[in-house]
Amino acid sequence: MTHPAPTELSTKALFRLDGRTIVISGGAGSVGSTVGKAVLESGGDAIFIEIAPQPEASRWNNIEATATANGTKAWYHRLNVTDADAIPPVFDTIRSQIRYPLRGLVACTGISGVCDATSYPIDAFRKIIDVNIAGAFLTTQAIGREMHRATVPGSIVLIASMSGWISNRCINGAAYNASKSAVHQLARSLAAEWGHPQNTFDYYPAGQPKRKVHPPIRVNTISPGHIETPLTAEAQETGLVDDWVKQNMLGRISQVEEYSAPVLFLLESSRRWWSLRLVVETPSQALAPWLVNRRGCYDQGSLILALYSFVQTRLPV
Ligand SMILES: NC(=O)c1ccc[n+]([C@@H]2O[C@H](COP(=O)([O-])OP(=O)(O)OC[C@H]3O[C@@H](n4cnc5c(N)ncnc54)[C@H](O)[C@@H]3O)[C@@H](O)[C@H]2O)c1
Repeated sequence: MTHPAPTELSTKALFRLDGRTIVISGGAGSVGSTVGKAVLESGGDAIFIEIAPQPEASRWNNIEATATANGTKAWYHRLNVTDADAIPPVFDTIRSQIRYPLRGLVACTGISGVCDATSYPIDAFRKIIDVNIAGAFLTTQAIGREMHRATVPGSIVLIASMSGWISNRCINGAAYNASKSAVHQLARSLAAEWGHPQNTFDYYPAGQPKRKVHPPIRVNTISPGHIETPLTAEAQETGLVDDWVKQNMLGRISQVEEYSAPVLFLLESSRRWWSLRLVVETPSQALAPWLVNRRGCYDQGSLILALYSFVQTRLPV
């Protein structure tokens, strides 16, 4: 049995999230607060989870004003996404607060760090891996459990990075790049596990009971290029951003607002046939070495990244 396909799709509703609650991890950050605001503007309630004890006041006032203006609601919860024991009690509280079922997650939590590989301190390396991949997994697991518990379909968007596909010139970020590649593979793995109600085409190892049937959860990634946020603040100070801008076809790096539409699209289409990779690529110098490394010609993979915005469809299993 598969989940019933929608047959009446209104174009107007493509970006609407009415009657849903969406969790935004890293919700006090630049991308998190911006996409959270977009969720509220699109009719969804938003839960911001974040390690910072409280959001920056002017940012939160803006979020609350947006919620009021749109008849939606916003909540803020302090949570370290790497702390597995702290997650269930926060979700217990969230469950007691929400008006509409949890139907989505935008995982925006992330940290970066630059260091030459030969002297990379292992503690710093481990911390990046822990936050960017284990943190993304734990949040995704918590949301998956909630959707299964409520028997609702949903959509999960993991903010990965172009750095998970390519290696950036002049940024020695082995840990960050590796962590973002892992986010891509995490998404593929979970999409395969949760996309089909019976999970495994009805195959069960001998002696295992049949799994409960759940509505599908789609899992996707978005891979931004450079964004003007605190994460790139050091690069702005050292002049590296000026280099990116000069070598960039658009003559600038991206702004956080440019990620709201892809996030909303992926969140809304939660009952669709889509399981996809949306590469929102700021055309930059980072593409050049990647292209020539691949047999010196534009093969299919190169063309994929060379597109400004690329959508690849895959069948949900
Ligand atoms: N800024 C860029 O150029 C860029 C480019 C590509 C991808 N990204 C990705 O986009 C996402 C958002 O980045 P941003 O630019 O908004 O950064 P940001 O620093 O503004 O936001 C990240 C947020 O995550 C929070 N956080 C960190 N560790 C946490 C933890 N353990 N538990 C809970 N929250 C935690 C931080 O407090 C912060 O509010 C990240 O995953 C980042 O890797 C950013």
